[in-house]
Amino acid sequence: MVNKKTLAEFFSDKKVFVTGHTGFKGSWLLSILKTFNSRVKGYALAPSHFTNLYSIVNNDDRLCKSVIHDIRDEKKLQEEIIDFAPDIIFHLAAQPLVRYSYAHPLETFKVNTIGTANVLNACRYLDKKCSVIIVTTDKVYENTDQDYAYKELDRIGGCDPYSASKAAAEIVTNSYRESYFNLKNIGVHNMAIATARAGNVIGGGDWSNDRIVADIVKALQKNQKIPIRNPNSIRPWQHVLDPLFGYLYLAQNLHNLPEKYSGGWNFGPLENDTYSVKELVEKAIGIWNSGSYEIISEDNAPHEAKLLKLNINKSLEVLNWKPLLPAATAIEWTIDWYKKSAETQKEFTFYQIQKYLEL
Ligand SMILES: NC(=O)c1ccc[n+]([C@@H]2O[C@H](COP(=O)([O-])OP(=O)(O)OC[C@H]3O[C@@H](n4cnc5c(N)ncnc54)[C@H](O)[C@@H]3O)[C@@H](O)[C@H]2O)c1
Repeated sequence: MVNKKTLAEFFSDKKVFVTGHTGFKGSWLLSILKTFNSRVKGYALAPSHFTNLYSIVNNDDRLCKSVIHDIRDEKKLQEEIIDFAPDIIFHLAAQPLVRYSYAHPLETFKVNTIGTANVLNACRYLDKKCSVIIVTTDKVYENTDQDYAYKELDRIGGCDPYSASKAAAEIVTNSYRESYFNLKNIGVHNMAIATARAGNVIGGGDWSNDRIVADIVKALQKNQKIPIRNPNSIRPWQHVLDPLFGYLYLAQNLHNLPEKYSGGWNFGPLENDTYSVKELVEKAIGIWNSGSYEIISEDNAPHEAKLLKLNINKSLEVLNWKPLLPAATAIEWTIDWYKKSAETQKEFTFYQIQKYLEL
């Protein structure tokens, strides 16, 4: 199990470069790194929604040095990385939405695939030991719509532009690792790289479009029926803190033992800890203490893979990481967060991190 004390010690005073720090996962990551006393520089676009977790947790501008800029600008990104000289890089910046990717495939490929290449390419000019975690997704696997849990060595694929762009980011990462940061020469380049693949996460502070929890909360707050598109889709709902601690723990281990921890890693819930979308909604209504839903059928809806499960044995056995919040608790922590008033959400974010550290 993750030793959170040594994890906190490892990150204390480390220089950590986070792309996508203004996003949902990025803001939670910043908050954890603040708890660990890391020195953080973030690189991302400004938050796209008026209400967003970044503005809540960073309201006094103390969490990081923030560069608001495009990941597609390879020169600027390189300058910022070289100037900061990080010990660790977490690359989260991405266009993360499947439906948006159908409408904007080129943007999705440029941001997700070329953006990843830009991060790795910048690292070629970094003259110090650095460990890089590239965050992709469970959707990088070639999905056969079978009842099967994907393992790290399974075939990479992806039909929709988002999944394909992230699968391509995996291939780009592997290319940089083989071509420029080969483990055989680690003593020369000092760069270690791993990819982290997690499924859908939930947690307080996600207001993105096309995210089920955001839709649920918006409807509950307005006393409207919750619209459900794919009621029977099974998703491995996981609280955002579980994979984030996986990424952090992976970074610590990768930094200390690159030969062992370089490569791809799945971060998902324990087997059978899955809920259908309908069950998630029903549970959320129970915790909110009111609400109802309606199922919406969309004849021309773009294809979305039905079943996505990750086999997490490698992370359990080799990394010694395990998820600490079962789906039921993850849903509870998430809905509890949204029940807080805007003024107390920042404090509650740090409270939940503290509570997680004590598990
Ligand atoms: N949230 C999930 O359920 C989930 C599941 C699997 C994987 N992921 C992955 O985790 C990462 C973070 O996702 P999230 O949920 O926080 O998404 P988000 O949309 O909340 O955040 C995305 C971040 O990327 C930045 N970004 C987007 N385009 C950019 C550009 N052109 N230049 C610079 N920055 C840009 C945004 O500014 C933001 O900081 C992504 O790589 C995503 O693919 C998320």
